[in-house]
Amino acid sequence: MSGFYKDFLWGGAIAASQADGAWNEGGKGIDTQDLRYFDAGWDWEKRQENRNINMTRERFLAALQTGETEHYPFRRGIDFYHHYKEDLALMEELGLKLFRTSINWARIYPNGDDETPNEEGIQFYTDLFTECHKRGMKVFATILHYNIPVNLVTKYGGWKNRKTIDFYVKYCKTLYERLGALVDYWLPFNEINCSRFNPWNGCCIIKDQEEHYEQTIFQCTHHQLLANALAVKAAHEILPGSMVGGMIARFTSYPATCRPEDVMQTILDENYKNYFYTDVMARGRYPAYAKRMLREMGVSIETEPGDEEILRDNTVDFLSFSYYMSMISSNDPNYEITSGNLLSGKKNPYLETSAWGWQIDPLGIRISLNEMYDRYQLPLFIAENGLGAVDILEGESVHDSYRIAYLREHVKQMAEALDDGVELLGYTMWGIIDIVSCGTIEMSKRYGVVYVDRGDAGEGTNRRYKKDSFEWYKRCIATGGLVID
Ligand code: BG6
Repeated sequence: MSGFYKDFLWGGAIAASQADGAWNEGGKGIDTQDLRYFDAGWDWEKRQENRNINMTRERFLAALQTGETEHYPFRRGIDFYHHYKEDLALMEELGLKLFRTSINWARIYPNGDDETPNEEGIQFYTDLFTECHKRGMKVFATILHYNIPVNLVTKYGGWKNRKTIDFYVKYCKTLYERLGALVDYWLPFNEINCSRFNPWNGCCIIKDQEEHYEQTIFQCTHHQLLANALAVKAAHEILPGSMVGGMIARFTSYPATCRPEDVMQTILDENYKNYFYTDVMARGRYPAYAKRMLREMGVSIETEPGDEEILRDNTVDFLSFSYYMSMISSNDPNYEITSGNLLSGKKNPYLETSAWGWQIDPLGIRISLNEMYDRYQLPLFIAENGLGAVDILEGESVHDSYRIAYLREHVKQMAEALDDGVELLGYTMWGIIDIVSCGTIEMSKRYGVVYVDRGDAGEGTNRRYKKDSFEWYKRCIATGGLVID
């Protein structure tokens, strides 16, 4: 097996809303993730129920009226905003080659529709990205990882309003002009298919204000796909030669059986949940199956003259995806259901699940990489992959052999994919340092190789500790993925 290239980009990823904190400092405006409510007293069921829950008008207004952080963990994150130097020093010690984080739109344009950018926000990202380079890491910047300035929701209705595209493009241009020299890879949208599976995160729409929810979701999606294409266009104009990519949450699906119906269901699931989005971003047009998909949902997207050309002329330079688990497809409803990233699905009897019910499937990463590369022949990134688990701090460390096993098996399968001929540029392990979970908003669902002493209610010292997986990942990187046991 030939394995990883010498310059393979071993990395780590986080997102602003889950890490930064400092929600009302540095001139930042309030953003849509700052409004998500959580109660540390909730039991397991309540936490799961609240997972990816839709925003209601009542919750939205209540959140806007309070300045408290206790029930709004995204407002405090892990305070990466004030700790980034110490955190990046740990990333350097790991030997990371690539650091992925998102820029918070509300730090750059606090209201989204401001005339001029917030200089303190620009300075923060200038310092942050400069620090990454100083410590030997390239920068993989996500332009939008769910959270938009709340003013864009109250005043314009979020992504359902076409005007949001203009505000977004202006924001992108500011980033390219002011931070372009410091960013190596741009990602206009985190998991653009999330619009369908978590419409608050993805589209920033309030469910009980929508008459035809699905219609609104796909209208938002159309606007985001246009915005993605326009972000590619602007980058190529302002920063010639820049690398701008597309991303989805990859819902890898296998037929539950060899019944032809299950195989057909798999094709539909793959198309509707995954490829619809990557087909538009990489091939530059709505795929043939989209017509039927939208018709059957009773959705008719409003378009404007010129939209087709925008999509056609501005396709992405690379594709990336998050990969945590796989699922099975069947039109037979009598399957046990288990949880997963953004959505639940049918349970595969051959796979173990994580403590959160996500089906652990290392081979699925190789399968997904091969499928994506065969379909698009574009360079790929694994933008997220990791294990959410309950970690116990014992003395100065966490003995997370379960995480090492998860990472090791996925790394092995990436090596296989490379050997299959897939052009995989890099791997940004998710939640390289513990952050607030995006789905359940728990701090106790941890992914990191660095432990952060902070609990669900925000209690703790916020001190960082290296887990056993830190040493493992460090060795993995140092040996170019060869020493993986
Ligand atoms: C991805 C998101 O879908 O999954 C991340 O891009 C998120 O923001 C990750 O954190 C893991 O999900 P969770 O719900 O366990 O945090």
